[in-house]
Amino acid sequence: MADSPPENPGFLRRFWALPTDSVPKTLFVAIALCLFASMIVSAAAVALRPQQAENRLRDKQVNILQVAGLYQPGTDIGEAFAAFEPQVLELATGRFTDRFDPASFDDRAAADDPELSQPLTDDPAGIGRQSKFVTVYLLRDDAGGLDKVILPIYGYGLWSTLYGYIAVEEDANTIFGLQFYEHAETPGLGAEVDNPRWKALWRDKKLADDSGELQITVAKSVPPAGPEYHVDALSGATLTSRGVDNLVRFWMGERGYGPFLNNLKAGDI
Ligand SMILES: Cc1cc2nc3c(=O)[nH]c(=O)nc-3n(C[C@H](O)[C@H](O)[C@H](O)COP(=O)(O)O)c2cc1C
Repeated sequence: MADSPPENPGFLRRFWALPTDSVPKTLFVAIALCLFASMIVSAAAVALRPQQAENRLRDKQVNILQVAGLYQPGTDIGEAFAAFEPQVLELATGRFTDRFDPASFDDRAAADDPELSQPLTDDPAGIGRQSKFVTVYLLRDDAGGLDKVILPIYGYGLWSTLYGYIAVEEDANTIFGLQFYEHAETPGLGAEVDNPRWKALWRDKKLADDSGELQITVAKSVPPAGPEYHVDALSGATLTSRGVDNLVRFWMGERGYGPFLNNLKAGDI
């Protein structure tokens, strides 16, 4: 009787029998490693999402405290931030609205939402769309009167959109501080917007003149309106400075916080 043909080994057996440095085995190890690594990265991204959201919130609170001059290293951020009263503002009317919860209203998401935002044709800040609603933060004095108001601002610089806050005194015209918390301008050039010496230049500058005309200007030379409306442009970063000038003037003007600031001046808030 003739010998029966050798049993055809299974696919797995044939695969394991291949030399370690064979092409199929090398490819298998590479693909398995990629899949394993991507699973770890995805799991970490999902698991860390709440922590990231918490860090973003904390970062926002630190920035608001800093621009209002209330940040002390080592203080409990949540506790210090409780001094602020967040309100959702309708830009067109300059009045607060209770349509949204200020604690959870997402300004950035609103700017992308066709229901809550509008496209800009004349767009000096380079933002494309503008939300009709923005979260602002009121700081009250011990007697309950308004001390400062913290207003979010953003717009295009040279390489990136700069996001920040401007703190305005209770007269709705004197700047207490300005600071950006997110941008990608060049370190040593446009990123000098973060230099404490440059940020200090904004202190006590006026937004509008006695006739109510917006005069604040970031420029290399003092504008005709006078030095109280002038912040020196960053040297070597004229384009970022121009972006900051554009965005500050846009947000402080009629299409930004102008109506709200007028209501504040009239004691109508
Ligand atoms: C690599 C590189 C990065 C730059 N980054 C910036 C920047 O972040 N902001 C800016 O205004 N200019 C930046 N500039 C300089 C601008 O191209 C331009 O020269 C400058 O804004 C002119 O400013 P000045 O008139 O004050 O010299 C950069 C230039 C180079 C080569």
